[in-house]
Amino acid sequence: MSSSPGFVVLPTISENSRLHLSCKATSDDKVVRLDRRDVLLGLTAVGAAVTTSNIGLAMAADAGGQCAAMPIKAEDLQCASVNGFQCPGLYNPQDIVDFSSLPRPKGLPRVRKAAHLLDAAYVGKFEEAVRRMKALPHDDPRSFKRQADIHEAYCANHYKVVPAGGGPKTVFDVHHSSIFAPWHRMYLYFFEGILGDLIGDPTFGLPYWNWDTPEGMMMPSKFANESSPLYDAKRNPRRVRAVIDLNLSPGSKDGLPTCTDDHVCLIDNNLYTLYRQMIVETPKQFYGGKFYNVELDDEGKQNHKVTGSLENGAHNSAHIWLGDPCQKNQDMGDLSTAARDPIFYSNHSNVDRMWHIYITKLGGGFLPYKEWLDTSFVFYDAQKRPVRITVSDVLDVGKLGYMFEESGKLPWIGKRPKPAANIQRHHGLKGTQTNSSYPMTLKKGEPQYLRLERLEKSRAGGGSSKKAPEALVVDVTIDPCKYVKFDVLVNVPKGQEKKVGPQNSEFAGSFTQVPHGGGLEMKTRMVSYQFALRELLEDLKCGKDNQLDITLVLVEGDKVLIDDARIEVL
Ligand code: C2O
Repeated sequence: MSSSPGFVVLPTISENSRLHLSCKATSDDKVVRLDRRDVLLGLTAVGAAVTTSNIGLAMAADAGGQCAAMPIKAEDLQCASVNGFQCPGLYNPQDIVDFSSLPRPKGLPRVRKAAHLLDAAYVGKFEEAVRRMKALPHDDPRSFKRQADIHEAYCANHYKVVPAGGGPKTVFDVHHSSIFAPWHRMYLYFFEGILGDLIGDPTFGLPYWNWDTPEGMMMPSKFANESSPLYDAKRNPRRVRAVIDLNLSPGSKDGLPTCTDDHVCLIDNNLYTLYRQMIVETPKQFYGGKFYNVELDDEGKQNHKVTGSLENGAHNSAHIWLGDPCQKNQDMGDLSTAARDPIFYSNHSNVDRMWHIYITKLGGGFLPYKEWLDTSFVFYDAQKRPVRITVSDVLDVGKLGYMFEESGKLPWIGKRPKPAANIQRHHGLKGTQTNSSYPMTLKKGEPQYLRLERLEKSRAGGGSSKKAPEALVVDVTIDPCKYVKFDVLVNVPKGQEKKVGPQNSEFAGSFTQVPHGGGLEMKTRMVSYQFALRELLEDLKCGKDNQLDITLVLVEGDKVLIDDARIEVL
């Protein structure tokens, strides 16, 4: 196995990783197409030992119900130091320790508090820890710079999956997939442990930016203090002292078009937006799907990854809010630079909290797929040991030894959107020319109108009372280096799109992308998003309809290629 400056390839591929799964080649509704390259990827992920006769065994049903590859192992990942970037994580394979074999640190739990409510003493601790981290030499794996590099490497296309046995390589990125939630939890866990260690406080918890409560919707003021180590000059200056717009309305400074300058309305819309993100039908909608078949650099054929609502929602909005993607020098607005801004970690502490709330308060579940649970990464801990940690190690924050101190109620839980009062609700596009040929190009100012068939089993009316939850699935191809946002509306008449916002049932949600510039070249990215329909159709009283009228509105971005849109059972 080679180990050269800039990357390390570890030699061991665990034998059992190729045998424990089998792929279901059909799902409820359709035969899943097995792309030859999916098959190759599935095979090569587990090394040379697998031959074409093992195809059936080497595949696995992934979060999207389709066939995906094996768990990611640190062994299969290779980091490329390109475009002036130096890869972090040059550990010696023999030194890796398993997280599960480490003794539980003493003095737990770590307590994560709402950042806007910290007392001066806690702010002092937080600042001192970050100050010390920033003062460490660059090549210390605990240094702030190296920590930020980890995110850049995993998020800006520096990693490739390089199958030990040869075969196609894929660019690997933890976003737009079900690896988003666990990977960031791992990353934060070690980051937080290093901070606590640097100030000798094992109870130190990473404060969270509590954007899901009205009092927490501005960036916490400590981060805006120029003399603080929490400060970053590369932020959108108009927005550091403004109430966040989680819906990222066009041109909004601190107001929405439908909100004018009214903060009450803006706060309200933020809560509706959070409701849509958090109250989902199934775990796979929350987490997203495929994480392995990211992108092929040899053969050109790609696969759609599926983004989860946890990532796509307020998380992306907070990135875009503080970093205008059109201004190249604002850290949060691009995933390659985002982790250079200390607010990044508090944004993710809240994302992590939202995941915890989804499990503990909303009765959400995990993905049952073994390739998800067994996926592992290696991070340096506070003792500078490379630690291997798996997704199954991080499902329970109690077991990890930290907790969230809640600041109050969760005001978004009751914010179920309501039908718009001022539009004709049903059969919105009657008489409108609808498009049905894919791919179609979505441009600003030119909405696409679609009429989609529903599936019999999810319609109300006859048959069994338990209806299968359905989603509108939209597959897109976008430029990974560009900011994109489009909204999806249901049964809204042509020309009335502007009358509908996140407060309305007709507003199924938005798809957003935070740009990921920097690493290995990728010209396009193929992603899907699942918009839940059940509650919305109930509220619009069109649960029995055979067809739905869908309007896609590009809010930001040059253009988006819509590869397909369909209604599926979740
Ligand atoms: Cu890895 Cu908020 O992104």
